[in-house]
Amino acid sequence: MAAVGSGTVNLRRFAMSKRSLTFVCQNCGAAFNRWQGKCEACGEWNTLSEEGAERPSGPGRKPGKGRLFALDALTGEAHDAPRLVSGIAEFDRVTGGGFVRGSVLLVGGDPGIGKSTLLIQAAAALARAGHRAVYISGEEAVAQVRLRAERLGLCDAAVELAAETSVEDIIATLSAGKIPRLIVIDSIQTMWTDMVESAPGTVTQVRGSAQALLRFAKKTGAAIILVGHVTKDGQIAGPRVVEHMVDAVLSFEGEGSHQFRILRAVKNRFGPTDEIGVFEMTDSGLCEVANPSELFLSESDLGQPGTAVFAGIEGTRPLLVEIQALVAPTSLGTPRRAVVGWDPSRLSMVLAVLEAHCGVRLGGHDVYLNVAGGMRIHEPAGDLAAAAALVSSLANAPLPADAVFFGEVSLSGAVRPVAQSAARLKEAAKLGFNRAIVPDAARSELAKPNLKVTDVGSLAGLVADIAARGKAPRLVRTGGQDG
Ligand code: TYD
Ligand code: MG
Repeated sequence: MAAVGSGTVNLRRFAMSKRSLTFVCQNCGAAFNRWQGKCEACGEWNTLSEEGAERPSGPGRKPGKGRLFALDALTGEAHDAPRLVSGIAEFDRVTGGGFVRGSVLLVGGDPGIGKSTLLIQAAAALARAGHRAVYISGEEAVAQVRLRAERLGLCDAAVELAAETSVEDIIATLSAGKIPRLIVIDSIQTMWTDMVESAPGTVTQVRGSAQALLRFAKKTGAAIILVGHVTKDGQIAGPRVVEHMVDAVLSFEGEGSHQFRILRAVKNRFGPTDEIGVFEMTDSGLCEVANPSELFLSESDLGQPGTAVFAGIEGTRPLLVEIQALVAPTSLGTPRRAVVGWDPSRLSMVLAVLEAHCGVRLGGHDVYLNVAGGMRIHEPAGDLAAAAALVSSLANAPLPADAVFFGEVSLSGAVRPVAQSAARLKEAAKLGFNRAIVPDAARSELAKPNLKVTDVGSLAGLVADIAARGKAPRLVRTGGQDG
């Protein structure tokens, strides 16, 4: 009995402290009732700041005051989520076929990557199709947005602009007339609502503003796109709760030095999450890239030692990318392993398999691996191409310029089959490749007679093949390029 009693006391103390919580971590949204240097929830330092307590909601209501509501069955008129096609095919592919009415979409990305450009283009495309589209900027003045639109040649589109940051004002204005089909809020971090008493940009404000806009979208059926800032480590700034609240989270990525931008769905309640949209940033805005394979291959590198072409799949779309490796004797005690665009732990695994099962000694070599064009490879099917590029560089043996590779390498040194072999081969044939080096089992899926398919059962076989070609070039290596 005593134990139960003390538990009750603790619970009561907990409830009291909860009501007076005022310090909120700006990184993870955890709340504390006193200031401290380090957030115990996420381990970040100096992220706690004082915020006004949120108005007590649900639990504060007196018992017996609830409103009765009807419960629905799972079957019934499931009105098919009506979609609003933007007309930008690469964007629609990522959203799963257009914006769903009444949904809220969060677009995150590094500063300057092109979020505002993409969204003003999307708003203009919808306006041109006769829908009411509103673009609200909390960061730029109307004149600045107009200037950008002018440069993009979108001035004829009937997009309605405003530079506003008060969520209540925005909702009141938009509720007054005909409800817009698309509302862009650039960015959610600049919005504030009088429902919570803390400064704009704080976690509580971001959460409160997002909630208010979400309610507006669900009530009116307007589709809302929120722009979200990204912190140094790639998270969307503000509480993760916003990511949980919205219907879809898209991330807009790209390397600063490259012109390519990739729109990727991180979460999507109404569509797939593995599709990507590829854009190119030009001086007239973002252009769609309908055939990205051509973008990620460079003619001059093909046929050089250390370059292999990987026939990959992004979502439902095949994509050829070039993998470049450089293996060179190290001058350091511990050899370097550096990788861009691929998982470093997969590189370690492939190197270990090469050492253990194929007799390739890499302990005295630096290893660099790069996926060309700023692309990132996520699927294990890239193992075989990476291994081929590594061995090709080590043996100074160029791989055939007209060959593609795919296959997963297992720890035993076997090459395992991967999904969608036929689609990969078809794309390779379309782009003029004549040979494919694939896992054993993929051969049966072969449908293209104009592609010579070589199957490999184990990595050791492939290594022997490449090493055999390496002999001649190695003899003339000291002579420079003119051999
Ligand atoms: P912006 O959409 O403002 O980025 P974000 O909203 O994500 O911060 O894009 C800014 C960058 O895009 C800027 O560096 C210039 C470049 N840009 C072009 O190259 N061409 C264009 O037509 C436009 C409008 C921008
Ligand atoms: Mg912007």
